Amino acid sequence: MADLYQFREAPEEPLDCIYILMCADTDPVGGLEFSAKEKKALRAKLTALAPRGEEGEIISGECPLDLARRVTFVGLGEERSLTHANLREALSRVMRQSTKNREYQIGLGIPVRINGLSEADSRFFALLEASVSDYTYDHFKSKKNEFEKIDGLHILPLAKESEEVLEARLQRVRLMRTSQQLTRDLGNRPANDLPPEALAMAIKGMADEVKGLRVTILGIKELQKEKMGGILGVSQGSVQEPRLVVIEHRPKKPKKSVVLVGKGVTFDSGGISIKPSAGMGWMKYDMCGAATVVGVMRAVADLDLPIKVVGLVPAVENMPSGTAIKPGDVITTASGKTVEVDNTDAEGRLILADALHYSARFNPDIVIDVATLTGACVVALGHEAAGIMGNDDELIESLRKLGEQVGERVWPLPLYKEYVSYLKSDWADIKNAGSRWGGAVTAGAFLQQFVPDKVAWAHLDIAGVAYHEKEHNGFPKGASGFGVVLLSTYLENLLK
Ligand code: BES
Ligand code: MN
Ligand code: ZN
Repeated sequence: MADLYQFREAPEEPLDCIYILMCADTDPVGGLEFSAKEKKALRAKLTALAPRGEEGEIISGECPLDLARRVTFVGLGEERSLTHANLREALSRVMRQSTKNREYQIGLGIPVRINGLSEADSRFFALLEASVSDYTYDHFKSKKNEFEKIDGLHILPLAKESEEVLEARLQRVRLMRTSQQLTRDLGNRPANDLPPEALAMAIKGMADEVKGLRVTILGIKELQKEKMGGILGVSQGSVQEPRLVVIEHRPKKPKKSVVLVGKGVTFDSGGISIKPSAGMGWMKYDMCGAATVVGVMRAVADLDLPIKVVGLVPAVENMPSGTAIKPGDVITTASGKTVEVDNTDAEGRLILADALHYSARFNPDIVIDVATLTGACVVALGHEAAGIMGNDDELIESLRKLGEQVGERVWPLPLYKEYVSYLKSDWADIKNAGSRWGGAVTAGAFLQQFVPDKVAWAHLDIAGVAYHEKEHNGFPKGASGFGVVLLSTYLENLLK
């Protein structure tokens, strides 16, 4: 991705283009740090080009300043209804346009405020969205995507935004971007390139790069010792061995203890209850919860948070074969609870059951799991929010509020105790799938059975938001990195 700079002085070589984002009711020039002379020249240009700031608008002309060859005004609509999504969408338009025009060094002025955010928050998220807007995954393409060629993103300071303040903001943006990019890259890797063992190795590689993380990998033998029948059961149909990856951040005097659990199904064929072939390829994204946990762990280490945070990544491949689990099988999870496998495609909850049970040994105050768990959650909320469930209203509400602010929305679904009865089994303690109805909440109710006593727990079902089948609200096709900013910021806020 393009390097990020702050743009203070006229460069030796003029920039290829300066992009200025504007709302229908904002002043695109006054809010930026320009000299009186520059402002006058830009205003004259503005009068000549007459952009209206409407959503979708993009108008270019020659740049009247020496700073750049061209100037482009990008419309966002009314400022009072400006959302993260509007901004993201506009920025992806900027990237497309500059790619098309072969602009390699571009300036970016964003003198607008996201609705409902403080000036500082809005600025930070605008910069973050800008910094990730040229993300593309072309690792396996011989001919690289053009986006890669934008190599300098020069941020125009806001009026009165000092060099120190902007630099501090950019530092934080770089940190979050690195984590989010890691999560997107892991998510996008195809299943043959990232089976459980490779996922474990990628996590180890990341931890070696940063200070403050320790990684332990449990293989088949250790999983057997822990009696993790869920993880072993799901993986037994695949030639790919399962792993449970434990990522620990243990500062000296931790203020809190948190465990994050991420579903790491590197490919979900459905198993014997096999999925239809159309669209099955998207199930390489069934490890996005794991990828999010890995990204958050990296941010936690980079921020050096004084909280004990443990990331747990159960990693398996769900395949049909002569050795696979079958509908009707009964497995024993690490907790001792037995589960009738009603549907082998409800595999995520089986591996999460073991990981949630394992979380107890880290004495967590809070456990949060992140999983592409149910199609039903996508039916309920589409691609605009993750579903959130749990046993602690305060935890759920603070994640909901924060999600709104960071542009990674989560929306609560209930966990009435009645849902547990949907999972009643005649042959085991519980079965892994209910009827057709309430698919997202019965999955949540299942997980709840394995949450250690006395911890605040939240479950994020990210099936609808972890990846996009086509460009969506400025998100690229593929992995979105959902949850990295939300959970990293949540952990950081725990200290306040
Ligand atoms: N990985 C899927 C859920 C999913 C669906 C993720 C669509 C992303 C997009 C999960 O393992 C699954 O197959 N769930 C089943 C559960 C059912 C069999 C009880 C589902 O949602 O249909
Ligand atoms: Mn499945
Ligand atoms: Zn799955």
